[in-house]
Formats: sequence, C-alpha cells, structure tokens
Amino acid sequence: MQFSKRTHTCGELRLSDLGKTVVLNGWVSDIRDLGKLIFVNIRDRFGVTQVTFTPELDSPYNLAKELGLEYVVSVSGKVQKRTSPNPSMPTGEIEILAEKIEILNSSETPPFVIEEDVKASEELRFRYRYLDMRRRRIADNLILRNRVYHIVHKYFEEKGFIEVETPILMKSTPEGARDYLVPSRIHKGKFYALPQSPQTYKQILMIGGIDRYVQICKCFRDEDLRADRQPEFTQIDLEMSFVDEKDVFNVVEGLICRVWKEIKNIELPQPFKIISYDEAISKYGSDKPDLRIKGISQIENITSLVKGSGFRVFDEIVNSGGVVACVNLVSKDVTRKLIDQLTLFVKEMKVGGLAYIKYEQDKVTSPLSKYIAEETLKKILAKSGSKSGDTVFILSGEKTKIFKTFGELRLKLAEMFNLTDNSTDCFLWVNDFPLFAFDEEESRFVAEHHPFTMPHSEDQNKLDSDNRNEIESIRALSYDLVCNGSEFGSGSIRIHKREIQEKVFRILNLGEKEQKEKFGFLLDAFRYGAPPHGGFALGFDRIVATLCGTKDIRETIAFPKTTSAVGLMDNCPSEVDEKQLRELGIKIIS
Ligand code: AMO
Repeated sequence: MQFSKRTHTCGELRLSDLGKTVVLNGWVSDIRDLGKLIFVNIRDRFGVTQVTFTPELDSPYNLAKELGLEYVVSVSGKVQKRTSPNPSMPTGEIEILAEKIEILNSSETPPFVIEEDVKASEELRFRYRYLDMRRRRIADNLILRNRVYHIVHKYFEEKGFIEVETPILMKSTPEGARDYLVPSRIHKGKFYALPQSPQTYKQILMIGGIDRYVQICKCFRDEDLRADRQPEFTQIDLEMSFVDEKDVFNVVEGLICRVWKEIKNIELPQPFKIISYDEAISKYGSDKPDLRIKGISQIENITSLVKGSGFRVFDEIVNSGGVVACVNLVSKDVTRKLIDQLTLFVKEMKVGGLAYIKYEQDKVTSPLSKYIAEETLKKILAKSGSKSGDTVFILSGEKTKIFKTFGELRLKLAEMFNLTDNSTDCFLWVNDFPLFAFDEEESRFVAEHHPFTMPHSEDQNKLDSDNRNEIESIRALSYDLVCNGSEFGSGSIRIHKREIQEKVFRILNLGEKEQKEKFGFLLDAFRYGAPPHGGFALGFDRIVATLCGTKDIRETIAFPKTTSAVGLMDNCPSEVDEKQLRELGIKIIS
C-alpha cells in the first residue's frame, strides 16, 4: 500500500517548526467536532499532536467526519500556532492545519477507552494489551525498561563481563520453587525443566574459566504469585571468580548507582549500608526492612526490664525462653479504636495480645499499670526513646514470631500514619543469612539460599554437629540487596571445596545417590579445579518497577500473566491436541 510516510513523529513539533509542511502517521486518539472546526488528536509512541480540519478544505474535512477512535491515519498539513495552547501537551503550542488525510486502516470500537486514567478492569487491559500499551504510561514503562537494558549491557561490558546464553531446556532440580516441566517427545517419559535461574550453569562457567559472566535472562518458577512475582520474570544474573562478598557488592552497587544516575539523575549515597540478617530481624522484624519509615522506632528487647516484674503473662513467657519487646510510635492520634484494630491484627498473626504505654505530661496511661510498677513502665518508655505524646506498643511471646509480628506491625503503622518517606529510594545489604532452615513439615533441614552456598568461615566447625540449634546458627556467606522494603536481588559466595560440600549435603540429608541424580554434573565439574567464586542475581522487573514508581511489576512487562498465571491475551495455558499428547506419551487423568 502506498501512503504518505511521516516526516515527523507525533511528539516532536514545536513553535520552531511553524510554517513547515509536515506529514504525521498515527492513531486517532480524540475527536472534537465543533461543526465549523474538527479537532483530531493523532497519537504515536512519541506523543500526541492536534490536527485541525476546516470546511474551507472540504476533502480532508469530509474525510475527518468519517474518522473513528483508533483509526490509523496519515495527515499532511502546515504547522500553525494554536489559538488556545494546551500546556499539558509537549506539542501543545502548535497544531497541524490539515491539507490531506489518508485513512490507512479503520478500527472497531475498542473494548475500553484508551486514556491515562484508565477505567477498564485489569482483566480487560491484559486481554487487549496492545491497546493498553498505546497508553503513555505503559509505553513509557517499556521505553524506560529498554533504557535500563542498555545501561546494564554497557556497564558490564566496561567491567569485563562476558554475556553468555545458558539453556532454557535444562535438567529438573526440584529445590526452591516448583519447576515448569517440558515433556520430551524423543525420550518419552522424560522431561526438561525451564530454568528457575541459571544458577548451576553460571557456576560451571566459572569452572570453565569464563571468570566474569553476566546475562539478562528469563527465569521460570511455578510459585504463588503476587504483585512483585510473575511465573516468568527477568534477572540480571552474574557470577565472578576469585572474589569475596565485598567484590560482588562493589559491582552490584556500581550498577545500581549508574542506573539511578542515568535514569533518575540521582547520586545514591555510597557505600550502601550493610546489616546482618540477625540485626535486621531483631531491629526491624524483617530481612528486608524499609529504612524510609520514620516515626516508628526499631524493635527494643525489654525482656530484662520486665523480668520478675510480677506480671504473670510476661513472667511465663520469659521463663519459657520467650521475649518481651516494644516499638515506639511518634503520634498523638492513637485512639482506643486504633488499639482495638491493631490488637485484632496481631491476633491474626497468632500473638496473644497487644499492650501499650502512653505518656503525656508526666502521666503514664497503660493497661499494664495494674500489674507493673510505674517506674518499670517509665524505664520501658526511656529504652524505646519515647517522648511525651508517643505510644509504645508491647508484644510478648516466642522470639521469631514476635519479631515477625513487629515487622508487619511497623509496616501497618507506617501505612496508617503515612510514615514512609517516598521521596527517596533506600538501599541496603542484608548479609550473613542462616545457611539452613528447618522445614517443620518435612522434618529436615533445607538450604536457606541454595545448597552451594559457602558457610561463614567462623561457623564451619559446626558443620559436623548434630545439634539442631547449632546447625541453625551456622551463618552463610549469602546476601540480599534490599530497596524500599523489597528484595531486589540475592546471591552468595559458593562452596568450591568438596569436603565442605559433602558436609552440607550430609546436613541436608542428601545421600550419594540423590546427590548424583540431582547435581551429578555439577559435582563432577567441581572435581576439576573449581575456582573460588560467587555471584548475584537482581530482579530486573522489580528494578524497573521501582524506577517507574510502581510496586506492580506487571505494569513494566509487555505481556504479563495474571496472579493465577494465565496469559489472557493469547489464552494460555490451553489444552493441546490429542495427537500432540500421544506423541509425547502423555495421558491426561482428571
Ligand atoms: P533468587 O531466587 O533470590 O536468587 O532470585 C533473585 C531475584 O530475582 C527476583 N525474583 C523474582 N522476580 C519476579 N518474579 C518472581 N517470581 C521472582 N523470583 C525471584 C527477586 C530476587 O531477589 N540463583 C540465585 C541468585 C544467586 O545466588 O546468584 C537466585 O535466583 O528480585
């Protein structure tokens, strides 16, 4: 089809172009027919320009009458000054006086109006994603995503990393999340798995001497989905030889600072704060604390203050090895209703009750006053840094549960009282995670990060222990990068020595047969001179979402899945032909 090709995009023309004859190609995004004049907005991914049709030029005017929303057009005409400029449009000072219009394609009435303040349901938007992405916001997110892509590639190229593609069809190693499986036609009854991450491959690349590997890669995990989790997502995956934790931090921090500088023009303060897992849990009740929260204190352990205070509930908890802890909230608006609401909240988290102490003009108000001396209550206020008007919330019970509940309570209070400083992005490293976690359901130890994570050198003597507490206290050389309370990435220094690996497998209860079956190829490779190595993987979608100012990574992915892992546009997963199943040797049993 012959048509007049654009001389400019729809986002480009300004007052400096007045008088030029131009051609624009794009979609009709708005029509205002005032009788004597017809105004039509033409949109492409670069912007929107107003085109004016007057009856003096009757042929384009008559054609303009036939236009509908989302028609594809080519319009030629002169750039002229708008009599009433629109300051909210970058091209708002000019318009095109139409001399010719060609309708390149018509459009059915779209199922929803394509506008920034979209009213359509998420389901409809995902189903017609190609219409949704005509909206500025989605297009801008994809454009920003592309910019980050380029920054990442350039950064790692400068740092001497090699991009290596790793297989998409790989061996199933069911650790961590569930695998997506792909049946083999040639080897009936056998399956490939889609990679949950290229973890084993990147370690083998180090054994192969590649030294510095990076890849922006797709990963697939069959797990419960949320706003920041998709069944297929993208990682910036890297691995380095002859490094320690600090070297990995430097490379990752350098990347984040480069991205924030280039995209947001922000110089992030460096070095990023590093706190240990134990510190994160005991101060913030979370391994991904949001340090932007102001006006809520860290968690204070007040077990020693209330010990022997005579309050039966606390005494029982302290005697059975539990904790009593508190946080201080800087707010005068703590009402009875709010306390009831928060009590319900902690009860849902299976914590018995919520106590509080309020202190105003020398007067202490607390339900605990009946049981605990005022002097002790004042000591608690002092320990939590409470000032007149503040409220201290107290929880007691089993240590892990109490810290976790405080973690959630801090987030809830921050949300209720608007205490998060959204003007900054706050990064920190959390390191020294436990090497193992005890899975109560399966009654066995599992690897907290993955089975190839190096134990802390000071804790390696505990690898021979059979004592649960001792094993649980083994720290790993593993670390997370946290931004605004969300896990941006995760990594570790890996085990490269066989003796240590064997001890870890023993604790994980992985016998020789199972080791061979699951990781035989990797263990074989380790026999031929594995260098000390470590690495990291960043959640690319989460980085882009944060830069776009959203928590929902689906807003930054061209074709996302729903929270029930459905692709609404192409309608997947879907049934397949009986013939396809037969070829694969698969029978569906319902
Ligand atoms: P991990 O499993 O912690 O580590 O993943 C690294 C980062 O990937 C992101 N991420 C996700 N993003 C969106 N949807 C998901 N379902 C999803 N799951 C994870 C997170 C997370 O921090 N191989 C190791 C890394 C290593 O040791 O080098 C790994 O994959 O931002």
